Amino acid sequence: MISKVATGVARTVGAARARVTEWRAERQRVALVPTMGALHDGHRALIDHARRQADRVVVSIFVNPKQFGPREDFGAYPRREGDDLDLLRAAGVDLLFAPPLEAMYPDGFATTVSIAGPLTTSLEGAHRPGHFDGVATVVAKLLNQIGPDLAFFGEKDWQQLQVIKQLVRDLDLPLEILTVPTVRDSEGLALSSRNAYLTPAQLITAQKLNRILQDVASKAAKGDIADARSAAPARLREAGFDSVDYVEIADAETMQPAPVASGRALRVLAAARIGTTRLIDNFPVELST
Ligand code: PAF
Repeated sequence: MISKVATGVARTVGAARARVTEWRAERQRVALVPTMGALHDGHRALIDHARRQADRVVVSIFVNPKQFGPREDFGAYPRREGDDLDLLRAAGVDLLFAPPLEAMYPDGFATTVSIAGPLTTSLEGAHRPGHFDGVATVVAKLLNQIGPDLAFFGEKDWQQLQVIKQLVRDLDLPLEILTVPTVRDSEGLALSSRNAYLTPAQLITAQKLNRILQDVASKAAKGDIADARSAAPARLREAGFDSVDYVEIADAETMQPAPVASGRALRVLAAARIGTTRLIDNFPVELST
């Protein structure tokens, strides 16, 4: 059971570890929800799952420069810790870990955690070189810093989720990774901190992404994989997207493009831009058995 406590704030690894050590001494289960802040209902769902499955919930907020490319939105990424803290208090989070840049990457920091192979070089990895090195490095650090029993990640960043699972497997990290379905608005648009960049007209276009991808998934489920995949970019452009980075139907775990070995789960994954805003989303291909 979670006892109601005020949300504490730790800015240093030492302060965060001191709290977690107290909980561990009382044999409490600790969950971590890593985030980059600008929290929304998608994060709230991660926290609610964490609260149900652990005695104590730690949320980290750190906008990780290592996972942004040089021409990406690191500077513009929304930062609103005051609002975030209100959400964390209302959600019953025990501890916010919000380290400054120099606590995560002090002078002389020289280590990169890099996962090889198509899992990190395809799709997002192809369009955002180095992105998954940045994700793997910061997630490895956060898991090591907090030492949770459980860590929660959303399905919206599907490829990231597979990368993190591989990281935990390969490094024998002693925790369980739990996943939470994507939270969507009333039109099906996957919630994302980057949706804040959209104008009202762009939002209407953005809301078409999920419908087109669901349609691609149902065509793929009927066996039209190559057609479903090749028709999708044009459909997105007709719907108002300015460019399409990729639409792929891939092995849900390895990200290898379909066709894949029979019996493997497939996933439709896409990234497309409206103006300067880049949106990603994904859906399962529900193959009938
Ligand atoms: O999904 C995110 O918000 C980030 O990629 C994560 C996992 C917090 C690492 O910075």
